[in-house]
Amino acid sequence: MYGLVNQGVQDLVVELGGEALWADIKQRAGVEFEAFVGMDVYPDDITGRLVLAASATLGLTPEEVLRAFGKHWILYTGRKGYGAVFETMGRTLPEFLGNLDAMHARLSLSMPHLEPPSFVCEQTGPGQLRLEYWSHRAGLAPMVVGLVEGLGELFTLDVHVKHTVTKGDRAEHDEFLIESEPARELTDAR
Ligand code: HEM
Repeated sequence: MYGLVNQGVQDLVVELGGEALWADIKQRAGVEFEAFVGMDVYPDDITGRLVLAASATLGLTPEEVLRAFGKHWILYTGRKGYGAVFETMGRTLPEFLGNLDAMHARLSLSMPHLEPPSFVCEQTGPGQLRLEYWSHRAGLAPMVVGLVEGLGELFTLDVHVKHTVTKGDRAEHDEFLIESEPARELTDAR
């Protein structure tokens, strides 16, 4: 994955425990790079090792780390100059989720080695969405939960995300049920 992702993990860790914590986690993960370059591509395994090392060091499950990272990614990319991308994604959460493939495709223009996920979003009721998540990678579904929670904050919605289908023997993708509480509709504009 692009170094930008590992930089996002670094940013979260530094926010949680400073440079010393990041140094510990990097060492535990066996990462010998001094710093990640945002536009360089690194093996996925490095990101995986960082998540596992963060999990062991912080006493969280890998799923909790991925979820926290997903949430942080929304803030991080906004801060790193991608805020303008968010502005063009639509005025509502379902619109935004429906535009994710187009957004990653647009990013591919400047990141030609991007291997983005794919999403299908369907409104299934008032304040209720079904989100399909397709990826050639495994194990990142908890990150999607955090990403959607982060987007909920962006839209000032109290969002609940449930992982309803897990990619595996019987399904080729993951699926999530997204509900907003209490009364506010997901279609409310920002
Ligand atoms: C401007 C904001 C964003 C940027 C710059 C961005 C960029 C990226 C990059 C660089 C990767 C790594 C893939 C690779 O290098 O091959 C990635 C992966 C991913 N992105 Fe985005 N992304 C953004 C927003 C989002 C949002 C809002 C979602 C919401 C669901 C999302 C979902 C994912 C997921 C789940 C992955 C993991 C890879 C996989 O599933 O295979 N991204 N994105």
